[in-house]
Amino acid sequence: MPKGKNLWGGRFKGGVDPAFAKFNNSFAFDRRLFEADVRASVAHCNGLVAAGVLTTEEADSIKTGLKAILQRGLAHGKLDEMESEDVHSFVEAQLVELVGDAGRKLHTSRSRNDQVATDLRLWLREAIDELRTQIRLTQAALLDLAEQKRDAVLPGYTHLQRAQPILFAHWCLAYFEMLSRDRERLGETRRRVNVMPLGSAALAGASFPIDREIVARELGFAGVSRNSVDAVSDRDFCVEFVAACSLIMVHLSRLAEEIILYSTTEFGFFQLSDAVATGSSLMPQKKNPDSMELVRGKAGRVFGDALSLLTMLKGLPLAYNKDMQEDKEAIFDAFDTTFSCLEVSALVLRNMELNEKRMREAASRGMMNATELADYLVRKGTPFREAHETVGKVVVRAIESGVELSDLSLDELRSFSNRIESDVFESLTLEQTLATKSRTGGTAPERVAEALAYARASL
Ligand code: ARG
Repeated sequence: MPKGKNLWGGRFKGGVDPAFAKFNNSFAFDRRLFEADVRASVAHCNGLVAAGVLTTEEADSIKTGLKAILQRGLAHGKLDEMESEDVHSFVEAQLVELVGDAGRKLHTSRSRNDQVATDLRLWLREAIDELRTQIRLTQAALLDLAEQKRDAVLPGYTHLQRAQPILFAHWCLAYFEMLSRDRERLGETRRRVNVMPLGSAALAGASFPIDREIVARELGFAGVSRNSVDAVSDRDFCVEFVAACSLIMVHLSRLAEEIILYSTTEFGFFQLSDAVATGSSLMPQKKNPDSMELVRGKAGRVFGDALSLLTMLKGLPLAYNKDMQEDKEAIFDAFDTTFSCLEVSALVLRNMELNEKRMREAASRGMMNATELADYLVRKGTPFREAHETVGKVVVRAIESGVELSDLSLDELRSFSNRIESDVFESLTLEQTLATKSRTGGTAPERVAEALAYARASL
């Protein structure tokens, strides 16, 4: 970059080596802060007028200039053709070119250090709002599916071994709950993001009498930072944001894994429609769940973003260091990746067929009613530990005979405990097994119906 074209030329005699300029420049990615930068500049300009630094005429010409720059920049592809050190240099250079001397006054009492921290928070605030909206849409896809398939059942697993049957809707609502917390978590992060660093200047604070509270209000910030050194040098809010994204990705990757697994021939519970699957270039019979595999795989990228932010910040001396320029790509990537994974997950959920017959068969087999038999004995007065032991023996007998518990005759069952009576068979049905899980949070149909209504209201 030739001397004089950047914001800090005065002290320099020689020009910057082009290779270093390319290495140093961030405009290729921080142009995403363009709108935030212009917005914050307008607010800063108003603050300078109130402080008596700018006349209203100067401010008017600056704001007209900024408006024109914004419109030009937003015009399709315009920004992509431009070169600059970073988005802040870009806006200022354009402004000076457009309005001359007044533009040269805008940077009074401001540094790129408080500017970038402010832009980042403005950008992130919006990103959080978009992400929370998308989480809600993905939750709606889960809920719609659950409501449509109220009667479907699924084997519940622990250790990936058949454990106890559950309603399919209960399974959907498990993911709904995770996403509810993710949405809430982002809301809490937003509170800490929504604090304005502007007025901290380079690190020591601003030396002109700008009313920061008024500037903050104009930008929609809930308050102003209390320490200028901290305000320009921490990026904990970025870490929090990416950590919240990471948890969304943890949840989506588990959903992805289950959908992949349940769509195999071996499980055969779900089937993805052609809209969200791909074929093999060699094997004509294949239908692959690439959509969900990518969601599962992309979780790693977002965790990587979190780790790169933490590592970048660790041990940095106060206040601003150029290391921090690395914050942007991490949060942009975490946002883009998480957003698209939420979107695709919703799409998959809306393009999924259930094989309800097979799900019911699977949920009815594998002696998943063994706990029910133990509970039956408890209701007849047997201590649970003893009942567990007894049913264990019944299970061995059933395995040896190659049958389910309910296929054993009453006499055979009574040979293990004479507390067993003919009403036992009623207790061992799938319906009864589900119905007994009737405490809050359980899979009994009446509780799930309530949970569905609650979930609907919470959207
Ligand atoms: N592009 C820089 C960043 O993203 C802006 C802040 C530059 N500040 C400085 N003192 N060089 O961090």
